[in-house]
Amino acid sequence: MSSSACVKDRGVKTFASGLYCKECGKRFELSLRNACDECFAPLEVRYDESAVGEKLSRDTVSGGPQNIWRYWPLLPVNREEGLKGLNPGMTPLRECRNLARKLGLKRVLVKDDTVNPTYSFKDRPVATSVPLAIQFGLEGVGCASTGNLAGATAASAAKYGIPCYVLVPQGLDRNKLLAAHAYGAEIVEVKGTYDTANRLANLVADRHSIGLVNINLRPYYVEGSKTLAFEIVEQLGWEEPDRMIVPMGSGALLTAVGKGITELRRHGLSSGSCSISGTQPAGCSPISSSLESGELLPVEEPHTVAESLAIGDPASGHDAAGVIRSTGGFADAPTDEEIVEAQLLLAREEGIFAEPAGGTVIASLKRRVEDGTISGDETVVCLVTGNGLKVPAHLLHGIRSSRVGPVLEEVETAFRSVV
Ligand SMILES: Cc1ncc(COP(=O)(O)O)c(C=O)c1O
Ligand SMILES: [Zn+2]
Repeated sequence: MSSSACVKDRGVKTFASGLYCKECGKRFELSLRNACDECFAPLEVRYDESAVGEKLSRDTVSGGPQNIWRYWPLLPVNREEGLKGLNPGMTPLRECRNLARKLGLKRVLVKDDTVNPTYSFKDRPVATSVPLAIQFGLEGVGCASTGNLAGATAASAAKYGIPCYVLVPQGLDRNKLLAAHAYGAEIVEVKGTYDTANRLANLVADRHSIGLVNINLRPYYVEGSKTLAFEIVEQLGWEEPDRMIVPMGSGALLTAVGKGITELRRHGLSSGSCSISGTQPAGCSPISSSLESGELLPVEEPHTVAESLAIGDPASGHDAAGVIRSTGGFADAPTDEEIVEAQLLLAREEGIFAEPAGGTVIASLKRRVEDGTISGDETVVCLVTGNGLKVPAHLLHGIRSSRVGPVLEEVETAFRSVV
């Protein structure tokens, strides 16, 4: 799927040198295009390495703004244009001593992207794609979404003052729609799965002057997510952890994390040999399954509590599998029961309330420590990418509470029953 439009403003400063085909290497101008016209393979942004090398150092980064734009030489957007947005990033890398002790690990850290402007990591890829839609002279932006991206795109569109259209599968958790609505997006609920919504969005992208962040703007979109890898390495004193565990839906995030690590190494900003592991819910695990079977078979009807990860036909599945393989990571697929249990484990041990996508990561951490894949002396970073308050429905029935009158004795009795 590809489309093209002229770049209206060619004077915009970025060190991105073009879009390049991941298969045949053909170069294209920075434009509204996501696939090679020769071999139809996806495109990626590459940079003028010597220009980046001159501007990017540990000092320039640490003197930069407290958001993703501190890494602007490796992003495809003019820094001043980027800074007009919601400025996600530089989220905490939380030391999780209680969890580490409980699991018998030397060191566990959570990269806590639940505290981004719209409470998920999706603010990052949106930050590097919405400004380009404006630069390309498009009339609106949008996305196909499992929920988080809809909110993130809508919020960014509001900030930049451009209309937003989101396509989501029908029946999504209402809280996620509420956010997109509050930010003023036009919401289209599509009967069917995320993949149906995505297919329709591809057709819309070809017919209208709209920048769909994860479709026709996809090469720019993935660039935002790699800042997660940049920040983790920086926050660890420019050293890689032994392992990262990343949740996978389309596989774009994991692929971007791999690209981020490669770019840091190229510029001498990172040392170590981090392995990158991926996890998906058992009810929708086409990428994880492909690492065993060698074949990526789409899942027709995903069934999982981790709705954000319910992408049956993952656009970046092959790339993600490649990164896992080449870095010696594992691919996993915990059950919904394990996911919810791990969500509560993280909340109760560390005070971090993640949505089920985060529970999926912690569930895999636990499983792989138990089966010996992760050894006790590893430093592991878990990417917790969305906030639990966004997806409360499946936990509401389990709320533990005591109803008492406004009477001290009744309160004390209730306290004694839980303490
Ligand atoms: C909270 C959360 N984590 C992880 C992902 C997976 O990202 P990707 O689709 O890039 O693999 C998503 C995707 O929607 C998400 O919403
Ligand atoms: Zn090509």
